[in-house]
Amino acid sequence: MSEVKLPDMSLVEAIQTRRSIRGFLDKAVPKEIIENVFSMAQLAPSNCNTQPWKVFVASGNLRDSISKKLQERAISGAPARPDFDYSNKFEGEYRKRQIDCAAAMYGEMNIARDDREGRARAGLRNFEIFDAPHVAFIGMDVGFGATISLDVGMFSQNLMLMLTAHGIGSCAMGSLRHQPDIIREAFGLGDNVGILFGIAFGYEDVAVPANNTRVGREPLANSITFQS
Ligand SMILES: Cc1cc2nc3c(=O)[nH]c(=O)nc-3n(C[C@H](O)[C@H](O)[C@H](O)COP(=O)(O)O)c2cc1C
Repeated sequence: MSEVKLPDMSLVEAIQTRRSIRGFLDKAVPKEIIENVFSMAQLAPSNCNTQPWKVFVASGNLRDSISKKLQERAISGAPARPDFDYSNKFEGEYRKRQIDCAAAMYGEMNIARDDREGRARAGLRNFEIFDAPHVAFIGMDVGFGATISLDVGMFSQNLMLMLTAHGIGSCAMGSLRHQPDIIREAFGLGDNVGILFGIAFGYEDVAVPANNTRVGREPLANSITFQS
């Protein structure tokens, strides 16, 4: 475990204050804090303690060159080639929440629903990694499926809550799974490593309108059944 002083934010406060940050300052997070955050994330539970997460953190020139390649790929119109099955075709209640989420974000960014150019520009911000100085690509063995990815999700939430506790913003980014070959090439990885998503992190730029986005949550009864 690294030596850095642990933050004194409570777990409750970290859960309540974490939110997705989509605009960051050009200010690196100190190495000891990064090490502390990842050491704490590492304490996540996993099937038989297999710790299946494989995480690749890009900063500085590497982060910039990955971002540039992702932007070029997106502008070229290349289709997404994710390593793992995924569906972004939400229907019913899920579609409604997806639309509400987009409306909240585009509303803050002053982008109208029919403003195709504005939306394309906003979409491209994903591949600019929202100017975050650091990005963690979160992966696992390509042979693993949904059940093992649960472990990786638990690791990832530990990571984002620890970042929050240190006053560091983050955004989980499924869009960073679209072109995994770019990530593998950047880190010299074999085809056995699959990329699930990315987590951008750094200090929040409060001047970025997207950072005013607030989304709510469903009443418990819509998600959880208590029965005896
Ligand atoms: C696995 C995952 C992938 C996501 N992908 C993206 C993404 O590509 N771009 C983005 O702007 N937000 C992305 N998000 C952020 C969600 O939109 C956000 O978590 C959700 O709207 C709830 O808002 P909150 O994080 O502020 O509480 C992702 C979140 C998760 C958990």
